[in-house]
Amino acid sequence: MNYMKKLIALLFVMMSVKTFSQLNITPMPAEVKMGKGNFTINRNTVIVLEGSGLEKTVDIFNGELQKMLGFKLKIVKVNPGKNTITLNFEKLDYKFPGAYNLTVDEKGIYIAGDNETGVFYGLQTLIQLLPPVSGKQLFQTADASRLNDIRYPAPTIPYLFINDYPRFEYRGVHFDVSRHFFPVNYVKKYIDYLAAHKFNTFHWHLTDDQGWRIEIKKYPKLTSVGAWRSGTIIGRFPGSGNDSIRYGGFYTQEQIREIVKYAGDRYITVLPEIDIPGHSMAALAAYPELGTDSTYPYKVAETWGINGPFNNVLNPTEKTFKFLEDVFDEVIKLFPSKYIHVGGDECSKTWWKQSAFCQQLIKDKNLKDEHGLQSYIIQRVEKYINSKGRKIIGWDEILEGGLAPNASVMSWRGEEGGIAAAKQGHDVVMTPGTYCYFDHSQTRNEDSVTIGSYLPLETVYSYEPIPAALTAAEAKHILGAQANLWTEYISNPAKVEYMLFPRMSALSEVLWTPKDKRNWNDFERRIPFLMQRYESWAANYSKAYYDLDATVSAAQDGNGLVWQVKRKPNGSQGMDVLFADGNSAIALPAYDADGKISTAVIPEKFEVKERARADQNSVSLNVTASGTARAALYNSTNQTGMELVMDEQHPVTVLTQKFSFNKATGKKITLKKEAAKNYPGNGAFTLVDGIQNTKGAGRSSEFLGFLGDCEATIDFGKTTVFDKVVIHALSQHSSWIWEPSRMEVSLSEDGVNFVPVGIGEEFIRVNTGNGTITMNMANSSARVIKVGVKNFGKIPEGNPGAGTVSWLFVDEIEVK
Ligand code: ACM
Repeated sequence: MNYMKKLIALLFVMMSVKTFSQLNITPMPAEVKMGKGNFTINRNTVIVLEGSGLEKTVDIFNGELQKMLGFKLKIVKVNPGKNTITLNFEKLDYKFPGAYNLTVDEKGIYIAGDNETGVFYGLQTLIQLLPPVSGKQLFQTADASRLNDIRYPAPTIPYLFINDYPRFEYRGVHFDVSRHFFPVNYVKKYIDYLAAHKFNTFHWHLTDDQGWRIEIKKYPKLTSVGAWRSGTIIGRFPGSGNDSIRYGGFYTQEQIREIVKYAGDRYITVLPEIDIPGHSMAALAAYPELGTDSTYPYKVAETWGINGPFNNVLNPTEKTFKFLEDVFDEVIKLFPSKYIHVGGDECSKTWWKQSAFCQQLIKDKNLKDEHGLQSYIIQRVEKYINSKGRKIIGWDEILEGGLAPNASVMSWRGEEGGIAAAKQGHDVVMTPGTYCYFDHSQTRNEDSVTIGSYLPLETVYSYEPIPAALTAAEAKHILGAQANLWTEYISNPAKVEYMLFPRMSALSEVLWTPKDKRNWNDFERRIPFLMQRYESWAANYSKAYYDLDATVSAAQDGNGLVWQVKRKPNGSQGMDVLFADGNSAIALPAYDADGKISTAVIPEKFEVKERARADQNSVSLNVTASGTARAALYNSTNQTGMELVMDEQHPVTVLTQKFSFNKATGKKITLKKEAAKNYPGNGAFTLVDGIQNTKGAGRSSEFLGFLGDCEATIDFGKTTVFDKVVIHALSQHSSWIWEPSRMEVSLSEDGVNFVPVGIGEEFIRVNTGNGTITMNMANSSARVIKVGVKNFGKIPEGNPGAGTVSWLFVDEIEVK
């Protein structure tokens, strides 16, 4: 820092009214000092290009200004002294490229980057200091006649001084374009999202079982055959059929060069992944001679997962190694990255076990087993790639059987792989599923199909990439972390963005902001502003952060149920709880064929029953009959003076709950033996809470899990006449959950002496997995009823978990 700058910085410290609390920049900069006063950009503001080599960066910045302000700024070389945005370099001495200082004062804006990357990041921060233009308005720009409707907020920026630099060297986001293909323009948009968040690596997952997406000139069938599948599984694996629609696409080498250049202009490295030796069905469909059985009818996979006959793998013959060298030759020419990703994950060893050639190779090369063979393949490929001046990185399975000498590791199956690699002195990128898999659901009430699991925003934000198990010296090998977006259940841009945002913003802060400056409460404060930013990009995003949380309990007066809905304490929203009788139709938010979320239709018959003010965090509704309850959260503030789309017609979030009443609903219930610890539901009451499970085992509050039988006793409080008893249970054999073998019912007047009245055995499936057993017993009467639900017992041979006791998941007992 020169003398003047020091003085200015000092002045800012003295004037400092507050540190960052009012800034809406994500990732939050390392150091912010606020001054007093504002600078406003106008049409006469000029960009002074003092540093050289920044032309492209300024061009990109001016493009953003055009979108945000409706005009571009003139670029000059000679500083006119005021009303300027000056770009220059200054030696800032930080560990990783990208440091910058940004000063706003009465003369204008001054950005000094440690290098070109730093200037680029300084401009990204400046863009975030400008108020976003509403996306709704931006959409209208497509319609020229409405151009005048655009209301650009004044580009006023407070005087401040920012000193900023990245915490980690590697800040990545991955994109699987194999399971679903995304065109060049969308890949560019994806890269824009990375750039805006100061990520520096785009991990491009280009090949997999479901499609080979990169043109390789020497092997044209990789794309003429391998880029196309004959159909795609419908729904969640194992699915409900195949759509039989030919699907695919690939990137030509010219398009790849275009994307690499586009990313490079934004200081983003494209890390290409060619996934070997597993996940190779598409390559084998094109060149069967590379497989362990060249007569096998290999085809591009049409379903997900690596089960059964899938996950055919490469046969490590000399022919295959030649193929790999040729492919990597072309890949290396296209991608200037230091690393080439060679995959290495989930390679089934079945095929090599069955192959005489592989077994002989294991003997000849003195390898321990098939894991050793995988290591042998990766090490040979590494040697080749090293000989071309590049390094390899692979998923943590490349540790099994011995790590290649110079390889780096992406730790995805938890942190253990990363810890082991770092302890062996290898560099690591952390990408553990529990924090970094953005294909997992963000909400517990997911309406779209996802791969499952649950990764809320808070969990992403809480991630610490340096495992506690490492010493300071070992921790130096943790280069950073990365989010992965696998696209089995993500087929369109709207869904991509719904899964990315706002989790990507949270991860950017984990990777950029100094650890001691990371602050969840402040990030929470910025969430509405982030959402405005996404809208200004015309991007979709998840509002799961605002999810309402509901509990059901028996009403104190014994009359029905109480549905209590709670909202997040932060923010200032109001909430309505509505109720419709059982005959009302309800349309939930859903994806239409184009992947857009259609707005919830509010049926006429819904009636507002309760309303919470902005300062109330919960509302309770007494439910006494079958019907659908709906809670809607509205944003009742206008925090930035901008138009918000979160008004009463566009609730921030909606929670609906269907209640099915019967004679047992809300009645006193006890269990002979409690449910298993991991599936406790909401206690015994779960079985009479009026909520029938339709979404399967993901909704853990809706059922009880038992590794034996379930026996429930329900006390109606007075003698009650009824005609049948129905038990509802789940059945999902792939998860070891089996339907009950039978139910038994006995009746009592005093709760002590029970008379058995019969058994029911026929389990009737009502939708995928779930089903009921009904016992008809017309005109029976009792005060107390005991219902025994029998576990299926041992899982039969040929099924997942064969030989062990199955799970019994019971979700409701109805007495009608
Ligand atoms: C992976 O998720 N198979 C790396």
